[in-house]
This record gives sequence, structure tokens and C-alpha cells, in this order.
Amino acid sequence: MSIVEDLFHPVIELPEPVRAKRYRRLVGLDGIKDRLRREASLLADHRLLDTWAKQHHGGDLPALELFRDRPPLFVFAGEVGCGKSALAESFGCEMADTLNLPVYLYRLKLTARGSGLVGEMTTRIADAFAHVLTEGRKACGSKRPNSALVVVVDEADALAQSRAAGQMHHEDRAGVDALLAGVDTLAGEDVPVIVVMCTNREGALDPAVLRRAADIFHFSRPGDAERRAVLSSALDGMKIGERTIAELVSLTGPRGSEPGFTYSDLSQRLVPAAVMAAFPDRPLTADILVRVAKGMSATPEFRPQP
Ligand SMILES: Nc1ncnc2c1ncn2[C@@H]1O[C@H](COP(=O)(O)OP(=O)(O)OP(=O)(O)O)[C@@H](O)[C@H]1O
Ligand SMILES: [Mg+2]
Repeated sequence: MSIVEDLFHPVIELPEPVRAKRYRRLVGLDGIKDRLRREASLLADHRLLDTWAKQHHGGDLPALELFRDRPPLFVFAGEVGCGKSALAESFGCEMADTLNLPVYLYRLKLTARGSGLVGEMTTRIADAFAHVLTEGRKACGSKRPNSALVVVVDEADALAQSRAAGQMHHEDRAGVDALLAGVDTLAGEDVPVIVVMCTNREGALDPAVLRRAADIFHFSRPGDAERRAVLSSALDGMKIGERTIAELVSLTGPRGSEPGFTYSDLSQRLVPAAVMAAFPDRPLTADILVRVAKGMSATPEFRPQP
């Protein structure tokens, strides 16, 4: 196995049809998508901001320096099953279209963690960022980048949890430090690389990581309108009427102290379970859907261990 294969899942060139579709299908994230589109293109190509400054303010501005120095790090934080991983692995499609460049998706493997070798984590992260930096330099054209890289560190809390946590191993602390050092080397280099860290435990993330982030995006459970959109789209073509959809929207909302369904509760649990209840002898009906929804509860809210 090459070093790159060892450190990253297979690299994917975006845009790519499956991920582009997944990106479009993510509901309730329009605000995040819009901010991300603008922030990501600026981080990947600072010159876009120079053009803007010339056009609207007649030239260079001190404020632009602030942007150039920003570490290219986004944190996606929030509830389980609300689109953090799905967006992190697909927004490069939109970025590729906006910038009119190929975007390479690198997903860091955190699996080899804990094999017991002191310093292994640090070395792996340092190697990963060194590789990304080399590729980022290659992607810098003379006038503008010829491609961009998105590096996803999913379930980042495993790696970047607070250094204050007493039970943390020496090696884990070193992992956090290596990660911060890696992000900082990228910041100093003006390379078209964006790092995205996803976590459902923002509170457990090291404050130094949060401080470095160019932006933090918060993901939450779907409200009525978003649940309606997900359900309507998932049940399309099955002759399920508006009244049933409305009942399902209400059944999957918060009940007393219980939270409402997450996006993945709807699309990966409720709808598949209903389909399975009908398969293979019957069509999916309103009755089946309502019965399955009544018998299912939402994924509990994540609560940090005391
Ligand atoms: N905003 C959304 N709109 C539509 N579907 C969604 C949305 N968010 C999540 N889903 C569905 O739920 C699945 C799981 O989402 P995803 O893996 O992105 O969750 P996550 O936020 O990363 O959760 P975790 O914290 O558990 O890793 C997606 O593949 C998609 O099918
Ligand atoms: Mg995830």
C-alpha cells in the first residue's frame, strides 16, 4: 500500500454525478450552502477578492490581508445525521462549478489509530498534511489555481478532542498538535486547499482548533418544512397523499421532551422500514407508513459523557 493509500481513502475528482446529486438533495442547508460556496471559493482562490476590491473599492484594501492569513479550516458541527459528512463530501462539486476547476476530495483515514506505536498518530497526520501541501503547491497555477483540494477529517473529535481532557493520552495530544501545525502550514502557503473537520461534539473539540477555524457551520435537526421536503421527495411516485405526509411530519416532530427525527432517521430508518414492511407482497400505503412512524422514535440527542 502506498503512503497515500494508507493515509487517505481513495481520492475522488469532483464534480462527479453521484455526489453532485447528493449535494442537491440535501434539504434545509441553503444558508450553509450559500455561505460555504462563497467562503470556499475565496479560500481556494484569494484573487477573487482582489477582483472584487478593484471593482467595488478601486484597489487593494488592508482588509484583504486578513483573508489571506486565515487558516483554510472549516468546522462542521452539530447533531447526528443532519448532513455534516454528506455536505463535506459533496460541496466540492459546487465549488468545482463555481471556480470552473477540478476539486480533489481527500478523506483522511483515522482508522489506523491506536495501534499502540508512540508517535504514530503524529507522524501520520504530519505525513498527510505534507502530502496535501505538496499537492496544493502543484495546484497553484501562475495566475490562478489549476485545481483545488478539499480535505475531510470526519469524526474529528476522535482526534481533536480537548487537550484539557484529563484522560487523554500523550499521543492524542500530539495528534491535535500535529493537526493544528498542518493547518497552519497550509495557511502560510496560499495553496488552494480547504480542510473540513466534522464533529457532533463541538464542545469536545480543542478550543485551539475552533479558534483557528475560518468559519464554523452549525447543523441541526429538520423543522416541519424540512421534514416535509425530505418525506415528499423520498415517497415520490408512491401515491402517498398530502394528508398522510402532513401526519408523518407531525408524528416525526418533537414529542414532549423527545426531540424530532433527524434527517437520517427519516431517510435511512423510517422510509426503508416502511418499504420493508410492504415488500414483497404489498404496495407501500399510508397505513403502513403511519404505523411504522408511530412505532419508531428519534435518535436521542447527543449528550456528552459526564
Ligand atoms: N440536510 C439533509 N437533507 C436530506 N438528507 C439528509 C440531510 N442530512 C442528512 N441526510 C441523510 O442522512 C444521511 C446521513 O447524513 P450524514 O452522514 O451527513 O450525517 P452526519 O451529520 O455526518 O451525522 P454523524 O454526526 O452521525 O456523522 C445522509 O446520507 C442523507 O441520506
Ligand atoms: Mg458524519
